[in-house]
Amino acid sequence: MRIAVHGASGFTGGLAVAELVRRGIEPVLVGRNADRLRAAAVASGVPDAEVRVAGLDDSVALTAAFADCVAVVNCAGPFTRWGEPVVRAAIAAGRHYVDTTGEQRYLHRILTEFGKDAEEAGVTVVPAMADDGGPGDLIAALTASRVPEVAEVVIADLRLPGSASRGTARSMASVFEEGPWEFVDGEWIAATEPGPEPIVPPGEAVAVPVSAFALPGVVTIPRHVRTRRVRSAIRTEVAALFSALTSDIVESIPESIARDARQAGRWLMMAEAIGTDGRRARGWVAGSDGYRLTAVIAVEAARRLAAGGAPAGALAPAEAFDAADFLDFLTPEAVTWQVEDLR
Ligand SMILES: NC(=O)c1ccc[n+]([C@@H]2O[C@H](COP(=O)([O-])OP(=O)(O)OC[C@H]3O[C@@H](n4cnc5c(N)ncnc54)[C@H](OP(=O)(O)O)[C@@H]3O)[C@@H](O)[C@H]2O)c1
Repeated sequence: MRIAVHGASGFTGGLAVAELVRRGIEPVLVGRNADRLRAAAVASGVPDAEVRVAGLDDSVALTAAFADCVAVVNCAGPFTRWGEPVVRAAIAAGRHYVDTTGEQRYLHRILTEFGKDAEEAGVTVVPAMADDGGPGDLIAALTASRVPEVAEVVIADLRLPGSASRGTARSMASVFEEGPWEFVDGEWIAATEPGPEPIVPPGEAVAVPVSAFALPGVVTIPRHVRTRRVRSAIRTEVAALFSALTSDIVESIPESIARDARQAGRWLMMAEAIGTDGRRARGWVAGSDGYRLTAVIAVEAARRLAAGGAPAGALAPAEAFDAADFLDFLTPEAVTWQVEDLR
């Protein structure tokens, strides 16, 4: 089985290539720069892996690069700038598509505008299969299922401040000015409040302030949870770090993060569902090394799509995959997850 990694020369792309190799799946490294792609193949221990050069402005070459692969994992961001040609090429090649975006507007565009083309091509497009969008959507689905009639879902990325790659910082800086959305009564609108009430993160003793922040769940959750409102937030101290990013700061951030530093960080996605009758449920997924998990999640999503069973179209993670089964798949990666009713 061959899976193409577009943006394989980047930090996340390299981790995705390494994950494919670990899983015994043949990687095809796709991108715009042959030297950087070859270096990524060497760094991942597969110097002879196939490298295919195709620029985003060459749809024929990009489509051809994907043609004999079962799926495409796109890691080239900011996706708002570079994502669409890759989605188009994957659909034109008749190949399933996943990516690692966390960018709300791009995600909304792909889910609303590419569904019909994907259906006609018989392929499944699942953007946002990264450590926030994937597990966040899946745990929200499981949490909401505990409440008979859901009035509101809050999705929170409660990871502690830690290292972000230059690519993440670029993507955050490129979307920060757009401001976060919330979902209210069937529409996506600018977030109307600075953020939800402080949250006591699972495993911590004290409530932490959180701020409205543009997470993928606001776009994906309303596709499968019937609810009036969906909001998203991150720790206020992390939001402050992202809001301070200038282009000079972004370009001074290292491209990659060493494994020790990644493993030292705590990663935690939490969903809370509030019922119209006041009933509440909470679910969370926790682990460390969000970047490696992103590679594990994206590769497994592509593998599952290739194995069949998901409907064709542009889908949220919980529309494409069995939520509990997918989260269980992550537990050997030291990921824990839980859903509980709150009084
Ligand atoms: N949501 C999450 O939780 C999460 C987690 C991990 C990553 N991500 C996202 O994944 C993306 C990648 O992050 P990263 O740290 O891996 O970034 P990175 O190291 O900067 O890699 C970016 C990749 O995109 C490629 N690229 C950039 N501009 C391009 C263009 N004009 N045409 C074709 N390819 C282009 C680069 O190719 P060259 O090598 O040729 O420059 C490189 O392969 C970011 O958007 C990040 O936010 C999200």
